[in-house]
Amino acid sequence: MMVDEERALRAHQERFGPHEQVFTAPARVNLIGEHTDYTGGLVMPMAIEFLTTAVLSSRQDGRAVFYSENYGEEVSIDLDSLERTPRGHWSDYPVGVVWVLKQQGVSLSGFSMTLWGDVPLGAGLSSSASVQVATALALLKHAGMMLPLEQLANVCRRAENEYVGAKTGIMDQFVVAGGVAHRAMLLDCRSMQFELLPLPEDVRVVICNSMVKHQLANGEYGDRRDEVEAGQAVLQRERPQIKLLRDATLADLDACADKMTAASLARCRHIVTENARVLEAREALLQSDMVRFGKLMVAAHASFRDDFGASCDEVDSLVEIALQQPGCYGSRITGGGFGGCTVNLVRADMTEEFVGHLRSRYLAATGIAADCFVCAPSDGALALMAAKDGLK
Ligand code: GLA
Repeated sequence: MMVDEERALRAHQERFGPHEQVFTAPARVNLIGEHTDYTGGLVMPMAIEFLTTAVLSSRQDGRAVFYSENYGEEVSIDLDSLERTPRGHWSDYPVGVVWVLKQQGVSLSGFSMTLWGDVPLGAGLSSSASVQVATALALLKHAGMMLPLEQLANVCRRAENEYVGAKTGIMDQFVVAGGVAHRAMLLDCRSMQFELLPLPEDVRVVICNSMVKHQLANGEYGDRRDEVEAGQAVLQRERPQIKLLRDATLADLDACADKMTAASLARCRHIVTENARVLEAREALLQSDMVRFGKLMVAAHASFRDDFGASCDEVDSLVEIALQQPGCYGSRITGGGFGGCTVNLVRADMTEEFVGHLRSRYLAATGIAADCFVCAPSDGALALMAAKDGLK
C-alpha cells in the first residue's frame, strides 16, 4: 500500500510525454451501514490508503486516450462522437466519467490519461470509485474547473449508474472523494450531511479478502436493490409520510408485511435495522466503546447474511474464524456483498497474531489463502489534492 505515483508518471512519460495533471484517489472500506445508501440511509465508511493515480496531458486530435498500466492496454475514443457504449471493460469507468461530464455540458478537449492503482479488484473496496474520482479530478482540472464534494461524487455515481450500468448508491464515491485521515465518516445519504468520527488509537481496522470476487455490474447487487425498492414502493403507497425506506420503522414494515414479497420484507428489515445500528455505532465510537461497536458489527453481519441474503459461505467462515480470535471486537462483510472482504476491528497489540491465525485457519477451512491488510482511515482525494497544493 504505497503511493505509487512514480510508476504512473513514468508510464505516462514513456507513452505520451510530459504530463500536465496528476491526481490520486484512495479506496474505501465500510465499517457499518450496508446497502442503506440508495434508500437515503446511514453509512459509516472510511477512505483507506490504496491509491489510484490518474496522469493527464493534452492532445490535439480531439481524442480521449486512456492507458491502464495495470492492464497494459490502451483505449482511444473520439470525444465528439462519444455515445453510451459500455463494454464490461476497465475503460468503462473512466470513459463513463467523460460521458457524464459531457452530458453535464463540460467542454473537454483531447487528452491522454494514464491510470495506475493498487486497489484490489473485485474485493469490495471500491476500485471503481477510486478510478472514477481520480479520473474526474484530472478531467475537471483539464477543463479548467473544479466541483464541490457532493457534485463531484454525483458525477462519479452517475458514471457508475448510467454508463457502467451498476445501480450503486453514493457512499463509495463520496468517501473516496471526501474522506479525512484518522476519521471514519458517518454519512446521511438523505441529507448528504456527514460527521467525522475518530477511531480509538488502540484499535486497528483489518481487512481480509475472502478472494471470492464480486462484480457490481453483474445481476446480484441490482437484484437486491430491486427487491428493496419494491418494498419501499409498498411503504410509500401505504404510508404517504414515508418518502424513503429511511423514514420507515419496523412497525411500518410489519403493518405492510402482507403487501410485499417475503424477499422484499426481509431486505427492507435488514435496512431498517441497519440504519439503527449505524446510529448506535456512532454512540459507541463517541464513547470509545469498542466492545459495543463490535457487537453491532456482528449483528450487522447476521442481518446481511440472513435478511439481506447477500453473503457467501467463504465470507461467513472468515467472519466466524475472526470472532474466535482473541482481541477481535467485531467482524462483518463489507461492501456490496456476494464475496469480497470482511472488515474486522482488532486490538492494536494483537493484530499480528490475529492476521496469522485468521489466514491459517481460513486456509485450512477453505483451501484459500486470504490477503489481509491492516488499514488506517486515510485522506480522500480532495484532501490529498489540498495537501499537494499546499506543498507547491
Ligand atoms: C457498493 C455500492 C455502494 C453501497 C454498497 C453496499 O459498494 O457501490 O453504493 O450500496 O455496495 O453498502
